[in-house]
Amino acid sequence: MVSIYSITNQKGGVGKTTTCVNLAASLAATKRKVLLIDLDPQGNATMGSGVNKYELTYSSYHLLTQKVAITDTVIKQTSAGYDLIPANADLTAAEVELMKKPSREIKLRQALKKIEEQYDFIFIDCPPSLNMLTLNSLVASKGVIIPMQCEYYALEGLSALISTISGLNQTLNPDLHIQGILRTMYDGRTALTTEVSKQLINHFGNKVYRTVIPRNIKLAEAPSHGVPALHYAKKSRGAVAYIALAGEIIRRQEKNRKIPKRKQLKSGIVKKSNKQPLSRTSTTLETEH
Ligand SMILES: Nc1ncnc2c1ncn2[C@@H]1O[C@H](COP(=O)(O)OP(=O)(O)OP(=O)(O)O)[C@@H](O)[C@H]1O
Ligand SMILES: [Mg+2]
Repeated sequence: MVSIYSITNQKGGVGKTTTCVNLAASLAATKRKVLLIDLDPQGNATMGSGVNKYELTYSSYHLLTQKVAITDTVIKQTSAGYDLIPANADLTAAEVELMKKPSREIKLRQALKKIEEQYDFIFIDCPPSLNMLTLNSLVASKGVIIPMQCEYYALEGLSALISTISGLNQTLNPDLHIQGILRTMYDGRTALTTEVSKQLINHFGNKVYRTVIPRNIKLAEAPSHGVPALHYAKKSRGAVAYIALAGEIIRRQEKNRKIPKRKQLKSGIVKKSNKQPLSRTSTTLETEH
């Protein structure tokens, strides 16, 4: 069964696109069928997958506005090893056009139904805001992966995302859940990183992936070569970390499939975390700064 994940965080520059591209490449390298959907008008995931965003015939804009069939928007087998629905600045117009349409939040979900069974994983790279594009992504997804930098104000804005997820649980997407929190650009040598990291685990429990993505220059350099880090510097700490994350995601899935939900609760696989309100988490940090 396909796993559809939104990679999202309204905060800009936290590693959403880097995670999308490198996770997609790592899973494709394990022979999984992967589709990456670029839903950000910046088109960074498109360029990072080796596709020129200035030379697109069709893109996620055409998909959302139903100008062509979804199959026409898919670029099969990019050099990065996965299929891609690309994006460029045209996508900003989709937001405006969607506003006039009924059922505007479910356009992506409707379109994906036609092709989702071809894939093991579909990742959607979201823009840094909670707009109609992100909403379409959340409605189409089963889980949300939230990349976060362990720094001051990291949690700011997260409560809006969490209440959007709860709202969708009551309406368009009852099964949507946080799949995992990913610590990115991690530098365990700083006290602030370890403190924020501890607080994330306090709040989100085992939703926080064990794998952390280190700050690594190869991850930042790879997009300028139009390839994931795995194809640019496969032994780099960054590439290795994303391979480890892919492994963790596969293992989690297998575990959850084997154990029925009731037992998962008992064994702590979906153990309730020791939740603190998000606002308190940030003020604790404030006093320590
Ligand atoms: N682990 C890392 N180590 C070093 N640099 C990184 C790492 N992750 C991301 N970067 C760099 O940080 C910048 C922001 O990353 P990225 O584009 O993935 O974030 P984003 O959340 O998608 O941003 P936006 O909100 O603008 O879409 C990029 O220049 C990227 O190359
Ligand atoms: Mg991005």
